[in-house]
Amino acid sequence: MDDRTTHHAAGGVIRRLWVTETPAFRKHMSRLDGESRRLRFAGAVSPQYVETYANDALKRATAVYGWFDDGTLRAAAELHGPMFSRTGEAAFSVEPGYQGRGIGSALMERIVLSARNRGMRHLVVSYLSENSPMQKIARQHDADIEFHTGETVGTVHPNFPTGLSLLREAIVESHGFTSAVVDAHVSTFSRYFALAK
Ligand SMILES: CC(C)(COP(=O)(O)OP(=O)(O)OC[C@H]1O[C@@H](n2cnc3c(N)ncnc32)[C@H](O)[C@@H]1OP(=O)(O)O)[C@@H](O)C(=O)NCCC(=O)NCCS
Repeated sequence: MDDRTTHHAAGGVIRRLWVTETPAFRKHMSRLDGESRRLRFAGAVSPQYVETYANDALKRATAVYGWFDDGTLRAAAELHGPMFSRTGEAAFSVEPGYQGRGIGSALMERIVLSARNRGMRHLVVSYLSENSPMQKIARQHDADIEFHTGETVGTVHPNFPTGLSLLREAIVESHGFTSAVVDAHVSTFSRYFALAK
């Protein structure tokens, strides 16, 4: 069950983020409310902490995938891990008005495919034990679940990469690249027309 790829999820588009999209990622993270921030970072953190984190995240991560609604980034899944490592770590952020619509599940599918094609054999997700949606998503991917005090660690075991899984990722990436170019043009034209008014 680790290689289903719902490129279009809940009416939006999932695609990889470029480092140049740090401002959009920062804005997305700033729209998380206090509870979502607490669940994302497994503890209470300030908006300033999140801003500092978001400034570097796209540079530090192995890959970050975004879910876009009408060109606006509303959810993200980050894949972290040293180069050529067989273990990666994933983290998710869905904005409050978009939670419970299947977006986190779709992002998990995307990130498992990405981890698989990078040869990762273990994909770790840490979350607060009360985080039922995250727990359900981990279980849907047959994660080994370990309970610690207040925190749960789910480890998903991606399959070995195959020609088909690589092809699947190449197809969704090329579609994502086209979406990114369109988004960039729309944003440039909007700015141009706003200035011309
Ligand atoms: C946790 C999170 C990523 C889940 O994403 P989501 O888009 O809200 O979740 P989905 O809509 O894909 O739902 C996943 C499952 O949880 C269930 N679910 C959704 N909201 C729920 C809720 N409030 N309580 C219980 N179950 C819930 C869904 O029904 C679904 O289960 P199903 O497939 O059996 O129907 C998202 O809510 C989020 O970003 N929360 C804040 C940050 C966070 O917690 N990050 C995770 C730690 S890194």
